[in-house]
Amino acid sequence: LNPGSESQAFGHNNRRRSVASTRTFVLKASEAHTSDDFKLKDLPSSSGRLDVVCRCSIAALLDDLQIRKDSIFIGVLEGKPNAPLCLRLDGRELRMMPFSEIGMADMLRRILGGHYEHGREYAIPYWQGVSIERKSFAELLCSVLASNALHYLCEEGEDIRTADVDMKRDNVFVLGDQQGLTVQDEEILEKLGAKRISLGSLSYLSSQVITLVHDELDRRLSKT
Ligand SMILES: C[S@@+](CC[C@H](N)C(=O)[O-])C[C@H]1O[C@@H](n2cnc3c(N)ncnc32)[C@H](O)[C@@H]1O
Repeated sequence: LNPGSESQAFGHNNRRRSVASTRTFVLKASEAHTSDDFKLKDLPSSSGRLDVVCRCSIAALLDDLQIRKDSIFIGVLEGKPNAPLCLRLDGRELRMMPFSEIGMADMLRRILGGHYEHGREYAIPYWQGVSIERKSFAELLCSVLASNALHYLCEEGEDIRTADVDMKRDNVFVLGDQQGLTVQDEEILEKLGAKRISLGSLSYLSSQVITLVHDELDRRLSKT
């Protein structure tokens, strides 16, 4: 991608320079392809719904076309042919990222293509703040749990407006894609002590859920 392109967001939002804690959004993308074998012009059906991953990463990391320094997005890609892979975009380190779905998909295609072609599983040398590693959903959750508070976003949970979210801690929010989480995934979260948090009884799109969580936490921060 051309760093001068108008379709990318740069830098950080000055209002958030002093933020101490982070919000990590973990999307379990149960069919998202783990190679660059998809067509940008037919993203939903050719990529195992990587379009959901693209929209969620944009919702997690961009605010008014600037990169949020307080946010991390992790997509657990579980589709063919090289699953599982965890794609991590860290707003504290990213210096630029696309803000359109197609731009994001193009970036993912380069990342997944390089990874597959060169057989390098961990290094994304050309993109600061982006990493990819082989980890399952359960392994990822165990690794992020050490210093973070874990929350599972689902319709049946405590209302986010009153839920106990410690704004001084790093918080991790887990959500599903168009298929939602399986019973086994929910059991893993239960065992790890995740708190269920709800945005109400309506089922929202995954990217909308991320935006609504940001909104609630931003409101809380603005009152402190
Ligand atoms: C499009 S929804 C999944 C719909 C899927 N048919 C299901 O029953 O889970 C995507 C994800 O967003 C989250 N989500 C959707 N609505 C929510 C709500 N009202 N409160 C909290 N999380 C929600 C859940 O994690 C869900 O797996």
